[in-house]
Amino acid sequence: MTENGLEHIAFIMDGNGRWAKNRGLPRQAGHVAGAATFKKVIEYCGSVGITCVTVYAFSTENWKRPAEEVSAIMKLFAEYLAEAEKFCMKKNISIHFLGSKAPFGEYAARMTALEEKTKDLGLTLNLALNYGGRDDIVHAVNKLIAEGKKEVTEDDITSSLYTSHCPPPDLIVRTGAEKRISNFLLWECAYSEFYFSDVLWPDFDEKQVDLCVEEFGRRKRRYGGV
Ligand code: FPP
Repeated sequence: MTENGLEHIAFIMDGNGRWAKNRGLPRQAGHVAGAATFKKVIEYCGSVGITCVTVYAFSTENWKRPAEEVSAIMKLFAEYLAEAEKFCMKKNISIHFLGSKAPFGEYAARMTALEEKTKDLGLTLNLALNYGGRDDIVHAVNKLIAEGKKEVTEDDITSSLYTSHCPPPDLIVRTGAEKRISNFLLWECAYSEFYFSDVLWPDFDEKQVDLCVEEFGRRKRRYGGV
């Protein structure tokens, strides 16, 4: 963890489309720039002592975007998947996908293999892809029903979510000036701190991560106590 106790940071990487529009470029160009920022930020987070990073790459609702944009993001993902094993082994990163892999067809098996291959490495990277917080809770409850549970506890749900391998996020960062949760980590965010940045995701950098960590250090967490 960082000197001020930050273990798990989560990012809503918003603003790719506006970043591209500001430059007279197609939205897809914003996602290309956003993917480069994603790689840079993950690495930097690891270097400052953060042990878990979660990024919201594609929500269960993002399928509603124009087909051209969806396929541009999927192309970026396919490129990432091709290089991810080498990158994760080199940088000591353990990757986990949050969300059902079913829509990814031929890639689903490769995603599972990547999770297996990078299991128990240093920094945990959760890639939320086809992810929705509500969908995750429903998925967890259905899993418990399938196991024969008639009544569930909070611990049962926590340990059946896609994030069961990691602690809840200490800090959730949303870039791109919007201030909403957008169906991200709904169960896990119960006691998270929130940080909203006006910076568009492609412009986010190491300095911005430092600002997040510093601000986290100023927060007083009480978890409902006094
Ligand atoms: C939100 O910005 C961003 C997304 C929905 C996609 C995020 C994807 C990446 C950063 C690249 C994907 C990388 C991998 C490895 C899958 P927006 O498009 O809603 O921006 P806007 O609010 O300005 O329109």
